[in-house]
Amino acid sequence: MSLTSVLVAAILSASGASASAIPSRQFARQDASIPLLTWQLLPTGSTQQFRGLAPVSDQIAWVSGTNGTVLKTVDGGSSWTSVGPSLSEADATLQFRDVQAWSAERAVILSIGEGSDSRIYITSDGGATWTQTFVSEEEKAFYNCVDFDTEQHGFAVSDPVNGKFRLIETFDGGASWAIVDSSGMPPALELEAGFSASGTCLETAGGRWYAAAGGVDPGRVFASPDGHVWSVADSTIDGGEASGVFTIQFRDARHGIALGGNFSAPTGNVNNAAWSDDGGLSWTAAAKFPGGYRSGSTWVPGLCKTAIAVGPTGSDVSVDGGRTWHGFYNGSFDSVECVNAGACWASGSGGRVARLSFE
Ligand SMILES: *[C@@H]1O[C@H](CO)[C@@H](O)[C@H](O)[C@H]1NC(C)=O
Ligand SMILES: *[C@@H]1O[C@H](CO)[C@@H](O)[C@H](O)[C@H]1NC(C)=O
Ligand SMILES: *[C@@H]1O[C@H](CO)[C@@H](O)[C@H](O)[C@H]1NC(C)=O
Repeated sequence: MSLTSVLVAAILSASGASASAIPSRQFARQDASIPLLTWQLLPTGSTQQFRGLAPVSDQIAWVSGTNGTVLKTVDGGSSWTSVGPSLSEADATLQFRDVQAWSAERAVILSIGEGSDSRIYITSDGGATWTQTFVSEEEKAFYNCVDFDTEQHGFAVSDPVNGKFRLIETFDGGASWAIVDSSGMPPALELEAGFSASGTCLETAGGRWYAAAGGVDPGRVFASPDGHVWSVADSTIDGGEASGVFTIQFRDARHGIALGGNFSAPTGNVNNAAWSDDGGLSWTAAAKFPGGYRSGSTWVPGLCKTAIAVGPTGSDVSVDGGRTWHGFYNGSFDSVECVNAGACWASGSGGRVARLSFE
């Protein structure tokens, strides 16, 4: 079965349609291995920027972003409810740049910023009530991303404090957090930092953990078997001011993609994507780069080598594990996540949220 028909079959079976319902012209592509994809925008009724995205299924998704906003849908994106924490006037502009969710009830959100703007809140009643479970007490810390490998265990990562990337760890689903001893973390380089662009600067897969960094040239990737002892490798992605690795995703313990580029030059389309097949120890530049700076990426679970990347200048798909990327959309998104081929979601500025489907 060609990959295109696999993807068509997967999306159709997820949507309950039959393959014969798709006009045959949609299969007639010059390169039949590249699926024909498009984003269907959903009516959030919001103008906020949603860099936080956590789909749970094809029906349930959470997005989070500027001005303390958190939205949730339980009907595939047809309707959205504002479910963010109630914030004091002083906190009303907190930016929830990352969200992790397990159901329509349970979610964790991370607000970014220096000092006490870096916070974590959790809910177990769908956002009706939230508990603030972490607030940074370090002036220099700036937490960018949070991720979990089980419902109980996760980390959040901050820009370097005293010369090393700072992590906090939870064993109770985000209810309590402890600073991780940094003795197993290699030193950060001067000006090295992470990017809170899409909630994917921290990643776990196949029992391993990864953190993406930039600010230095090239951008680097930190890798760890346990989140405590880390190694670091150069990527092939150009780094420097506002540049480097913005998003990292692995599909198992070995195979990963890293993307990014220059946030301030978003149409730059060289040295903005790389792949690894050794658990992030070494990186190879993509043979065909995405069309611009990319802030978010995701594998498509169930479609072995397929991944999607998004950024302000467009979306790209790879069907060969990140070796070559093919643009399929030129609208702006910051974040993307696929639960499976029938449940790929993207989110970004201007209240934009979308689900992937065929034209
Ligand atoms: C967020 O809030 C600020 C301050 O109230 C306001 O100026 C800004 O327009 C808001 N952003 C959006 C996208 O609504
Ligand atoms: C990123 O782009 C901006 C604007 O073009 C430029 O000033 C800056 O030098 C670029 N950064 C790097 C690391 O090339
Ligand atoms: C984006 O795509 C649309 C529809 O395919 C097209 O009309 C538009 O010109 C494109 N915009 C850019 C900036 O390429």
